[in-house]
Amino acid sequence: MKERQGSVEENREIASGYFSLIVSGDFPTSSPGQFAMVSVSDTFEPFLRRPFGIADQGNNWIRFIYKVQGRGTELLSRLKKGEVLSLITPLGKGFFMEKGRVLLVAGGTGIAPLLYLAQNFEEFVLLYGAKTKSALLREEVEKIIGKAHSLIYTTEDGSYGLKGLLTSHIPEEKFSMAYVAGPYKMMKEFSRIYSGEAQFSFEERMGCGFGVCYSCVVRVKREGKEEYVRSCKEGPVFFGKEVVWI
Ligand SMILES: Cc1cc2nc3c(=O)[nH]c(=O)nc-3n(C[C@H](O)[C@H](O)[C@H](O)COP(=O)(O)OP(=O)(O)OC[C@H]3O[C@@H](n4cnc5c(N)ncnc54)[C@H](O)[C@@H]3O)c2cc1C
Ligand code: FES
Repeated sequence: MKERQGSVEENREIASGYFSLIVSGDFPTSSPGQFAMVSVSDTFEPFLRRPFGIADQGNNWIRFIYKVQGRGTELLSRLKKGEVLSLITPLGKGFFMEKGRVLLVAGGTGIAPLLYLAQNFEEFVLLYGAKTKSALLREEVEKIIGKAHSLIYTTEDGSYGLKGLLTSHIPEEKFSMAYVAGPYKMMKEFSRIYSGEAQFSFEERMGCGFGVCYSCVVRVKREGKEEYVRSCKEGPVFFGKEVVWI
């Protein structure tokens, strides 16, 4: 974990309110599921950095996909090519790689870490849901479609793909692992329905991002005991069998 400066290479709106941010710089290598704490302005307002899953990384660049939610992401969306920003990366523990045929499940911005993860598999099924057609990042997904054995889009309003919640369309076949990222409620419902082994990437609100403030805890059961652990340190990826859903 190191603080590094980078310069904005691209900060492009790829769908309404969704941005692709590419930062060039000398960043340590990450693994899928890890995240970065990103400074969203060069002043002290807002004071805290914001966490974003790494959506891709290459030689001297790193990519994020984010949705404008509030003050921090709104400021981030204003950054122009060439502006400097500071990242602490990589943070947390990423996905444990399983062999065989896997299921990737993304709700909303949960697609970002899964785009990075998908590059590691020869064959996978991607189940990807959003509220409406305009919030589905299809162009980004279709860049990796070559490797997807099948691709299932869902929208809550039925404007594209299958209608309804993503969790109503979970494929019935057996997978060696399911990798799930998205809103807590979706992941909890997925875990209730799906009986196979799964890993979940949590997006708890974070203060520091590196284990100091305890603002990001997730409840887990380990060796028969329930406890709270920091998702920025022990996660953000957890195995389904250890998560205590609240
Ligand atoms: C490990 C991790 C990875 C993440 N990866 C991504 C990503 O790849 N792309 C992306 O768009 N976002 C991601 N997020 C969420 C992102 O950090 C928040 O959307 C962002 O911090 C909001 O900042 P803001 O200042 O714009 O919003 P704020 O002004 O802080 O909040 C605005 C609204 O967004 C909600 N919100 C803020 N943070 C979160 C959160 N963590 N989870 C759910 N709701 C939140 C608030 O409740 C509020 O309603 C990730 C979060 C974590 C912890
Ligand atoms: S964000 Fe501070 S301990 Fe996790």
